[in-house]
Amino acid sequence: MANQIVASILDCDFRRLAAEIEAVDAYVDRYQVDVMDGHFVPNLSFGFPILEAVRKVTKRPLEADLMISNPDRYAAKYAEAGADYVIIHVEVSSDPRRIFKEIRDAGGKPGISISPGTPADAIRDFLPEVDMALVMTVHPGFGGQSFMTEQLRHVRAIRQWSDELGLGLHIEVDGGIKANTARLAVDAGADLLVTGSYIYGSDDYRKAIAMMRSRIA
Ligand code: DX5
Repeated sequence: MANQIVASILDCDFRRLAAEIEAVDAYVDRYQVDVMDGHFVPNLSFGFPILEAVRKVTKRPLEADLMISNPDRYAAKYAEAGADYVIIHVEVSSDPRRIFKEIRDAGGKPGISISPGTPADAIRDFLPEVDMALVMTVHPGFGGQSFMTEQLRHVRAIRQWSDELGLGLHIEVDGGIKANTARLAVDAGADLLVTGSYIYGSDDYRKAIAMMRSRIA
């Protein structure tokens, strides 16, 4: 499984959303759209119109990371709106298996996520039923936070379970991912590296991505 760079658009310049995606489209592997409801996380972001706009600009795989308290109400709709992957957080999913099925029925691939404070054990039983697992490496809600190294123990555990079961699961990390922390995450077993401010806060997007690419090769 090749390591992939996933651009989070949370910190891009929204006055020129299409140009911000086109500027990195040849260099990244996927995009992540952070959906925040101001309830599960202390921030409000964007909904379907932004995801649909991103969908129109790029052909690359698109993730909708649902940091919302009622994923059961919206998950399938994000797949219908164009998300290839729809990620729900285990902390707020009363019946994850039903939501996974609804995402698949809507043409999407489900992912399950844990936030700091939630043990990897909380998603162990769901691993055979998802296409990816996301370990948050910051407290979800804002870009530009510092990487929480202690979260890597969950990445190691999930990679071991995936190997034992022969799942070949994609394991994603998100939060504080820069060239050096991306390497730490890959060494722990992650293959999907979500990065936002490292790219969109840099003076040269292409150079920043190339640096990360060289560190995770
Ligand atoms: C934070 C979001 C992340 C964020 C990453 O809750 O889920 O996707 O955009 O931003 P950086 O890479 O700046 O930590």
